[in-house]
Amino acid sequence: MPKKPVIADFNREIFDLRLKRSHDDLFEMLERLYSRDRHYEQFLTALDGVMRKAFAERADDLKRLDLKRDLEPDWFQRSDVNGYVFYIDRFAGNLKGIAQKLPYLKDLAISYVHFMPCLKPRPGDSDGGYSVMDYRAVNPAYGTMADLEAATKLLRDNGISVCIDLVLNHTAKEHEWAVKAAAGEKAYQDYYLMFDDAAEPKAYERDLIEIFPEHAPGSFTHYPAFGKWVWTTFNEHQWDLNWANPQVFLEMAEVMLFLANKGVDVLRFDAVAFMWKRMGTRCQSEPEVHMLLQALRAVCRIVAPAVIHLEEAIVSPSEMLPYLGRGAHDGKEGNLAYHNSLMVQFWSALAARDTRLMTHVMKTHFPPVVTNATYATYLRCHDDIGWAVTDEDASAIGIGGRAHRAFLSDFYEGTFPGSFSRGALFQENSDTGDKRITGALASLAGLEQAEEDGDAGKIDRAIDRILMGHALIASYGGVPLIYMGDEIALTNDYGYTAVPEHAHDSRWLNRPMMDWARTEAASDTPAGRVRDGVRHILHRRRAVKALHGANPTIVIDTGNPRLFAFLRKAPAGPLLCLFNFSEEWTSIDSGLAAHHGVTRFHDLLSDADLQLHDGVIALPPYARVWLA
Ligand code: GLC
Repeated sequence: MPKKPVIADFNREIFDLRLKRSHDDLFEMLERLYSRDRHYEQFLTALDGVMRKAFAERADDLKRLDLKRDLEPDWFQRSDVNGYVFYIDRFAGNLKGIAQKLPYLKDLAISYVHFMPCLKPRPGDSDGGYSVMDYRAVNPAYGTMADLEAATKLLRDNGISVCIDLVLNHTAKEHEWAVKAAAGEKAYQDYYLMFDDAAEPKAYERDLIEIFPEHAPGSFTHYPAFGKWVWTTFNEHQWDLNWANPQVFLEMAEVMLFLANKGVDVLRFDAVAFMWKRMGTRCQSEPEVHMLLQALRAVCRIVAPAVIHLEEAIVSPSEMLPYLGRGAHDGKEGNLAYHNSLMVQFWSALAARDTRLMTHVMKTHFPPVVTNATYATYLRCHDDIGWAVTDEDASAIGIGGRAHRAFLSDFYEGTFPGSFSRGALFQENSDTGDKRITGALASLAGLEQAEEDGDAGKIDRAIDRILMGHALIASYGGVPLIYMGDEIALTNDYGYTAVPEHAHDSRWLNRPMMDWARTEAASDTPAGRVRDGVRHILHRRRAVKALHGANPTIVIDTGNPRLFAFLRKAPAGPLLCLFNFSEEWTSIDSGLAAHHGVTRFHDLLSDADLQLHDGVIALPPYARVWLA
């Protein structure tokens, strides 16, 4: 009797079970998005083929990881997940160089790394790698696809997950599809949003918001060579894809699975808010965007469930929640999404020395938990900071929205009297009065100025602001992302103006080269103090299991405008996290802590007991405590 191919059967069974599990999540969305297309049935058949092929090609060790993570679906919510974000060349030279940096990452307690855009970009200015001409090739400056695969394997073997960017909204105009479209191939012109004359673009533009008003004004580009207007939300060289075309979904699903099979753990979906266009709207966060994202997640859950999605939607608080899996797509959208509001509110409260707006926003807009998901928390990244504070939220605490946003811009640019910050403006928009800010964490938090002044007191305060921020993002709930160089307090990199492809974009102020000498700084220098402090925070986070992302985060209004406070409701007992946003001493009544079930007054961050004075917990300037 011939032997039965047990493994093949088992594989097929697993695939079919997963298809069944995610069937409705996927096909209900596709039905709503594409069923009116006359090739809908062919599209479904093709997608089925794409999924089965990718599953068949998926390596055994990755399939084992799929099983493991299906059994431990909270793997990315645990307190031992600490993220680190870097440009491969700026951190390690190239992909092969990462191996040598492993001890550094391990020492920092890092278990998740985000390689900034690493797929093949267009030559010249590529918007920091976000203008991709080939999703199946690695940036040649970093190595090859085989090097990427080797790097993900090495990191996986060392307990570190890898996140890479997948730019969904646009491709470079040098991408093969775009080149064919420009050559007049109708099928490929349908991959993009192209118009024969200016009428439709003009009609759309009435409601669109410019993203780069200074260096790339408008949202469309006219190409006389092939007689079309092309939708270019970001830069002229970034052509928006037409996601209303099922063929685009098919192609991108294939790319997504191709990358998943290279051993990537997390896919960062770039600029997702812009994926669907509707006349008469801002063309951001349209309902179809969420349908697309749910469908893409379902595809991964079927073929490669070890892989999760991080969504980048830098929008206002209420618009952001659906990306975190709230509302109609509850628990089925991004596993991770950037907590832009927490980041904005951190900077806002720091400048104002007043946490009322922060407490209001975090309390009213964000639920204590999100389903099957958690936040990506951060203080700085490679991008600018836009003051996403609504007029309604500002007026709820009795301040003016426009005035507060203007104050924050002036403060962080450093022009507001008494400001400690050294930032720069990015893309001032004269229509809306918006002034975005860019700069390194250490410079924005006051270290650059303090060191220039040689003022020891100012240096202390700047370091405390930095460490308070890290203690905040490490405890709020979610994966804290440390942006390369922030752990050694790197300040602004003014050298970018000498690089022709970067000079027009002040975000490069905050995209420095790693300074390895600085990582060895003595413990009593600012760099050494920040390094030791960040390292300590990340190690403590790893040890404090109560910080698991699924434990509710309940923001508390203590009535003290200097303090930001929240409770992490762990089953084994609550944790009260307190942050003093001012350079003055402040205090909190121990009765308030006791009221929330916190009675031991043991600070899990310093791992020491706090001394009470007449029933009062005294908190020094920029204090941060995690009270058990
Ligand atoms: C995202 C990236 C940003 C880029 C934009 C366009 O927002 O973070 O750097 O400019 O997408 O791709």
